[in-house]
Amino acid sequence: MAACTDLPFRLIAREKGLGFCFLEMVSAQALARENKKTRRLLQSAPQDRPLGAQLLGCDPANMAEAAQMIEDMGFDLLDLNLGCPVKKVVNNGEGSALLKEPEKAAKVFKAVRKAVKKIPVTVKMRKGFQDESGTEAVCLAKIAQDCGLSAVTVHGRTQRQGYSGKADYAAIGKVKRAVSIPVIGNGDVIDAAAAAALKQISGCDGIMLGRAGLGNPWIYNNLDKVMSGSKGSFYVPTAEERRRTLLKHFELEITHLGEGLAALHMRRIALWYTAGLPGAKALRAAVCQTTDSALIRSLIEDFFDALPAAIPQPQAPLLLAE
Ligand SMILES: Cc1cc2nc3c(=O)[nH]c(=O)nc-3n(C[C@H](O)[C@H](O)[C@H](O)COP(=O)(O)O)c2cc1C
Repeated sequence: MAACTDLPFRLIAREKGLGFCFLEMVSAQALARENKKTRRLLQSAPQDRPLGAQLLGCDPANMAEAAQMIEDMGFDLLDLNLGCPVKKVVNNGEGSALLKEPEKAAKVFKAVRKAVKKIPVTVKMRKGFQDESGTEAVCLAKIAQDCGLSAVTVHGRTQRQGYSGKADYAAIGKVKRAVSIPVIGNGDVIDAAAAAALKQISGCDGIMLGRAGLGNPWIYNNLDKVMSGSKGSFYVPTAEERRRTLLKHFELEITHLGEGLAALHMRRIALWYTAGLPGAKALRAAVCQTTDSALIRSLIEDFFDALPAAIPQPQAPLLLAE
């Protein structure tokens, strides 16, 4: 997820049991121009595996060139973004705009598939651009399969919906029934019940988790347990573990991105780990007013010290993108 799932996020999540993971999308054009910031987005580490990279773009030749670069960097998989709903992206003909242009999408798929020799290429899409029925995703998934792509992930919302409404698991099921390559379902999975509903309604082969992992790296192991039918109970972190994990996340941000960026990132990271807890708003407001690492650490310590003994479980900030 753009601006969220950076290397420090993933290192924390890997420790807690995250399996396959994707980097945030990178622009194929920026990558081909050797843009420095884009290179930083692709930063990884040996323990950060297995890992897929994701490309955003709509020009077949440019996408093929960027895809080769991704393969040469040693990623395990390349995913193509046909889901981003952001206006600027869509106005460029990229992301979910390609749902409206299946022929153009096919050209991109073919060019990338030809350029990439060793790793699987997959595609992530929304269920449609404006059309609610899921037909656009079905059409594109079939094209992806015909072009030799290895799997398709479907987020059960249209571009028009952004992040409003509910993800439509039945539409994901339409895609599942239309192709023989694996279909990964995505959208609104925040707990075991939602994961089970997605699997049962759509028949999907796997689940991709987005926002619910923010500030909640324990969810990966918990959901793996549920999905594999294990009877073990859902693990709920203590406030102390939350404190330690948030502070470690901050230290990793400093190590990998430097103090300045780490302090800025803490404005959202601190919110993720504390959303819904008493005093979280005040903590966020205070963190937003400083770039001093020592002060940020002590604000976090003070916040957790002040928590009552019995705390409610924090809520994943599901509306983050709105
Ligand atoms: C802040 C933010 C950034 C995102 N960035 C990406 C991205 O780079 N690539 C992508 O495929 N999806 C991206 N998404 C979409 C998510 O991967 C996912 O499809 C969507 O949030 C629905 O799943 P969820 O309910 O599990 O979060 C992003 C979502 C958010 C909220």
